[in-house]
Amino acid sequence: MNLEDNYGRKHDYLRISITDRCNLRCIYCMGEDGIKLLDHNDILTYEEITGFVEVLAPLGLRRLRITGGEPLVRKGVENLIGSLSKISGIEDIALTTNGELLGPMLDKLMDNGLKRVNISLDSLKPELYKRITRVGSLENVLKGINSALIKGLTPIKINVVLMAGINDGEIYDFLKLTLDDPIHVRFIEYMPLDGHDQMWSKRYLPLNAVKEKAAALGFRLNPEEGIVGNGTAETWRIHGAQGTIGFINPVSCHFCSSCTRLRLTADGKFKPCLYWQEEINIRGALKNPLTLQSLIKQGLSLKHEKHQMNTQTQGSEQGYVRSMAQIGG
Ligand code: 5AD
Ligand code: SF4
Repeated sequence: MNLEDNYGRKHDYLRISITDRCNLRCIYCMGEDGIKLLDHNDILTYEEITGFVEVLAPLGLRRLRITGGEPLVRKGVENLIGSLSKISGIEDIALTTNGELLGPMLDKLMDNGLKRVNISLDSLKPELYKRITRVGSLENVLKGINSALIKGLTPIKINVVLMAGINDGEIYDFLKLTLDDPIHVRFIEYMPLDGHDQMWSKRYLPLNAVKEKAAALGFRLNPEEGIVGNGTAETWRIHGAQGTIGFINPVSCHFCSSCTRLRLTADGKFKPCLYWQEEINIRGALKNPLTLQSLIKQGLSLKHEKHQMNTQTQGSEQGYVRSMAQIGG
């Protein structure tokens, strides 16, 4: 058995959400009061997560990404990274974080085998950052990014969700960040997630807006090949810059045909696709590798050819029953 689906896609990448909790309340992700949280007992233990990866690694799993909610709010995340990095076949472990808690935790994360971080950062202006995250402090995030640069946890990727009338005035500042440091800024199209459609239709902006702005500012963008872990991003580099600029356009342009990703939610659901509702509860099968393998096979057979997000449907009946904090991005 391998991790191939009905459309010939071989999966080597698993995103593991280790918690649905988050220390921020980003306006596009959740309401002011947060989301309805899972019960602690429903969350997979680190042993269970490691057990799951141990079964997938011999089938071709190579790369892992730890997500949340905010993964750094869960105690002992460095121990999980330590155990995962010892599993034979696993070559790369990355983390997606909002960066608020990163600085002070970097040493122990790196000592345990963390190779890379993606930091979600939608504004470089303290006031606006606060408005988008409702409770965050830009200073903490910038300190985290600086420490990561100093300690060599590079390349650093910065995820920017582009929102019309909110942060589209900062395109220049984000482009400039890539000039002098190995920082890869990736603009992400705002996706229509559960419960936020009203804001989405007002704020969605296709990423062509960034390219047009870059051209208008006189930046010459050259296409870039071979950035590790950039499966879904189209990548460019400003002439002479140390970092790159990525475009992740799930809404205006499908990258489904080259998708190699699988997901595990914090409550033990195996999800073959971010968009579709199909998920398989694997918790009960974790003690039995053969049953688990057959559930994984079943999950792969449920994977659709592509998602149906587009500017007309804004999600659909089948899509998105969980917000990003519940799926893990
Ligand atoms: N559209 C696009 N990106 C989103 N994220 C969270 N919600 C959305 C959305 N509706 C991003 C976060 C983070 C990543 C995990 O997903 O900003 O970078
Ligand atoms: Fe937290 Fe990420 Fe959601 Fe922001 S987008 S509230 S950082 S889970």
